[in-house]
Amino acid sequence: MSERPPDAVVWDLCRGALATRVLGIVADLRVADVLADGPRPVVEIAAEVGADGGALHRFLRALASDGLFAEEEDGVFRNTAASELLCGEGWVDFAHLCGGVWHRAAGELDATAGDPSFPRVFGTDFWTWLLAHPDERAAFDRAMLQGLETRVARLATLAWRGDETVVDVGGGNGSLLVELLRLQPGLRGIVFDLPETNRDDVVLGDRIEFVAGDVFESVPRGDVYILGTVLHDWDDERAAAILRTIRTAAPTDARLLVLDAVVRPGNDPDAAKWLDLLLLALFAGRERNEKQWRTLLAAGRFEPVRFHDRLIEARCR
Ligand SMILES: C[S@@+](CC[C@H](N)C(=O)[O-])C[C@H]1O[C@@H](n2cnc3c(N)ncnc32)[C@H](O)[C@@H]1O
Repeated sequence: MSERPPDAVVWDLCRGALATRVLGIVADLRVADVLADGPRPVVEIAAEVGADGGALHRFLRALASDGLFAEEEDGVFRNTAASELLCGEGWVDFAHLCGGVWHRAAGELDATAGDPSFPRVFGTDFWTWLLAHPDERAAFDRAMLQGLETRVARLATLAWRGDETVVDVGGGNGSLLVELLRLQPGLRGIVFDLPETNRDDVVLGDRIEFVAGDVFESVPRGDVYILGTVLHDWDDERAAAILRTIRTAAPTDARLLVLDAVVRPGNDPDAAKWLDLLLLALFAGRERNEKQWRTLLAAGRFEPVRFHDRLIEARCR
């Protein structure tokens, strides 16, 4: 990577909060959808989404300087490949959360304690807060769609016996399991998550059952367990408790597939190093390196078999 000027490094970090907030606003206004059919003058966009033309122009100009939207001619904007990701569902919902409640929680991060800032700002833990805010819960479930294809592709490369029952623990709205079962028609699926999770039972179909419950109490029996970006939501003690609940339900030949980052040493850019801080702000969760994963899995009575890119295969101990 070419070295950036030192002042550019500092400035880019200083302006981060502005970028996140403005991205969230533009996502909420659905500006990318307005531009789906081609370039539009900002005055028209502003009128359509109910924004102030002058403010919106400045938001879009700043975002365009980072490649999100492009100003074709003075005051006329078009989508770019990056802003097109904000059409439909997934990234737009992630941007909504990043620029909204997560932005407020991140603003209260401090270095004096390892506790999450979200409860300090909102008076309750993140999951309980989502329960009380069904629209945000729905946005959260849609936000989890971003990166779905990559995660399914990772799972699809593994060897499948073909007739296993796969339990996706903390499986959200079930979209990962739906896609996996499409690729592996012999599998049966169980999505296990909190009762308030938004899901479409028609989409889940008759090969997938949704079981509502608390992962700290019990989970259904299955041949393969998936934990997709679940363990990184919890500190070591709670994450080990989740693994032990699964271990109690799992037959001894069960497989565990953890879809989470394995943080590499060194200074290379890695989205996980920043997501780690969001996890700290929201729930005192964390991203883990290989050594930390080995310790955690052992505490949950599992042992790793293979570390792939954002996929850890493990078996019972
Ligand atoms: C980060 S999301 C991951 C969703 C999905 N696995 C994915 O990769 O898109 C974590 C999930 O854990 C669920 N969860 C949180 N606390 C839980 C609990 N006590 N019992 C069961 N599920 C829980 C949340 O509802 C959420 O769907």
